[in-house]
Amino acid sequence: MTAAPGPAQPVLEVEDLRVRLRTPRGPADVVNGLSYSVGPGETVAVVGESGSGKSVSVLALLGLLPARVATVTGRALLQGEDLLTMKPERLRQVRGPGAGMVFQDPMTSLNPVLTVGRQLVEGIRAHSDMDKAAARRRAAALLGEVGLPDPVGALDRYPHELSGGMRQRVIIAIALSNSPALLIADEATTALDVTVQAQIIDLVAKLQAEHGTGVIWITHDLGVVAGIADRVLVMYGGRCVEDGTVDDVLENPSHPYTRGLLGALPDLAQPAVDGVVPDLVTVPGVPPAPTDLPEGCVFWPRCPVRGDARCETEQPPLTVIGSADVALPHRAATWCTEAAPGSGSTATPVAPHAGGGSR
Ligand SMILES: Nc1ncnc2c1ncn2[C@@H]1O[C@H](COP(=O)(O)OP(=O)(O)OP(=O)(O)O)[C@@H](O)[C@H]1O
Ligand code: SF4
Ligand SMILES: [Mg+2]
Repeated sequence: MTAAPGPAQPVLEVEDLRVRLRTPRGPADVVNGLSYSVGPGETVAVVGESGSGKSVSVLALLGLLPARVATVTGRALLQGEDLLTMKPERLRQVRGPGAGMVFQDPMTSLNPVLTVGRQLVEGIRAHSDMDKAAARRRAAALLGEVGLPDPVGALDRYPHELSGGMRQRVIIAIALSNSPALLIADEATTALDVTVQAQIIDLVAKLQAEHGTGVIWITHDLGVVAGIADRVLVMYGGRCVEDGTVDDVLENPSHPYTRGLLGALPDLAQPAVDGVVPDLVTVPGVPPAPTDLPEGCVFWPRCPVRGDARCETEQPPLTVIGSADVALPHRAATWCTEAAPGSGSTATPVAPHAGGGSR
């Protein structure tokens, strides 16, 4: 008798990820106990203010932080294999077909002295048995798919001959070239105009449908999150302060920080009053320095609704809000889920981005 298929194995399972960096100002606790998983074909959006640890958390997964500066602990199982204890040689094999990454800064990802074609073709051939001509055809097709004009001509150009947006598209093509099991996109489309952004988002959705690729999409654009994400993870001070399905988090934000983030969104439909467009709501204050995190709740110094005696002294754990009896429960790390008037609790649901998928 054939056993009934169980729930799909996650592509990535991160458990209690912590990153401490050595800095001139002392140890910086940049990522503090992050746990999440990414299922096959699933898109997990990671959001949070600048400096909340989004990039460091994914660089740590792929062993891309310098060992003399960074101490990384926890577990990160990519298709069952722990990335954090993997030998460097195995990690190099895994980057590409296992995990592809689009970095925030395109200039650091391309080799300035090699043509675009050589960089793409070498990446394709390193993980397949394609001959050079076939790999070159595949490379040109990929450049066309990411919307680069004259893809065949672009193969013979050097990175400095391309615009920033074009370079970013080359990096996206490289990351997609081996149809990775996991794609990490760190502000991948921020520098691109909306039509190209929509094209890239569609391309990633196609990859997910065809190969079951799990995606971690780091972005500041909550419109994109609403359009493409299945799940959202809100980071603050190196911690996850809220996570859940995209509907739970964007329509019923529970953590005061998430409410603040959503309240800070511009509302293009809001009419001007006497010719004056109302100011945006902001989250007052600045994020904590990772060298000097608050003792209690990490959001305490800025929280508009702090009221519980524990706020100042104890970090609240992630706790399920509502039903725990669902595959993806909605969780928040706060002692207080009651919102004060004016705290942004009536956050408007975010309109899906024009380029968003159908999820
Ligand atoms: N090499 C480094 N040495 C020391 N501190 C670092 C280093 N890289 C990052 N940091 C610090 O780690 C923290 C998290 O940085 P990170 O780049 O992960 O933020 P982020 O959430 O990706 O922000 P952004 O939205 O601006 O990209 C910041 O306080 C940053 O100053
Ligand atoms: S625990 Fe307290 S300080 Fe922290 S977010 Fe909740 S109410 Fe605010
Ligand atoms: Mg970043």
